[in-house]
Amino acid sequence: MQTLFDQWATTYDRAVKETEAQDRYPFAGYTDIKRTIFNTTLAQGVKEILEMGIGTGTISKALYESGHAITGVDLSKNMIQVAQERLPDAKLHHAAFETFTKTLTTEVYDVVIFSYSIHHLTYEAQTRLLLKLKEYLSHEGLILIGDVMAKDAQTLSRLKARYASAWDTEEHYPLVSHYKNGDITRYFSVEYQPLSHCSGVITLKKHGQ
Ligand SMILES: C[S@@+](CC[C@H](N)C(=O)[O-])C[C@H]1O[C@@H](n2cnc3c(N)ncnc32)[C@H](O)[C@@H]1O
Repeated sequence: MQTLFDQWATTYDRAVKETEAQDRYPFAGYTDIKRTIFNTTLAQGVKEILEMGIGTGTISKALYESGHAITGVDLSKNMIQVAQERLPDAKLHHAAFETFTKTLTTEVYDVVIFSYSIHHLTYEAQTRLLLKLKEYLSHEGLILIGDVMAKDAQTLSRLKARYASAWDTEEHYPLVSHYKNGDITRYFSVEYQPLSHCSGVITLKKHGQ
């Protein structure tokens, strides 16, 4: 995985633009995801942002430029290098998600972003990681997940059939039904905004806010 993203670092942004322009899986709706994450974060009026799987830094760039403090995590050194050039003062960590969370102690983040990154984990690992991150969210904190996603397994299967030749079978795209019916709901409310035929944003808000 690390090698794949290291090789992809210099052409990733172009690949996203091309697929989005064709309104195709996986990046259809990418600009709307970016805008939604930006607007939702801005409306929170907060500062400390953590982007998990920051890649080339495209999603966090506008937040960085509007004065948010960005911490980023990525297991690809080359992706981190591109992101660091784009966001010179961001705190970037070259680490896997699980390794990074083990280093957390008293950190508090207002918004945690996963854009096209949480799908690299199994559904069980997604839940485990989100519950762990809950401990480092501020009182009003949010987790925003932008990705290929579907409301349920049946809808995802239809997407898979439509894009059979391009579909990445190693990725675990967020299922709203999984988020709304599992352990996540014990701690978070779950909101789903579809933004294209194959993508959207899930917002997790801690109970009691
Ligand atoms: C498809 S890119 C998305 C980049 C960016 N967030 C965006 O929306 O354009 C996924 C990124 O997540 C990183 N990644 C995947 N699995 C990871 C893991 N377990 N720990 C840390 N980073 C990971 C990859 O190296 C890659 O840079």
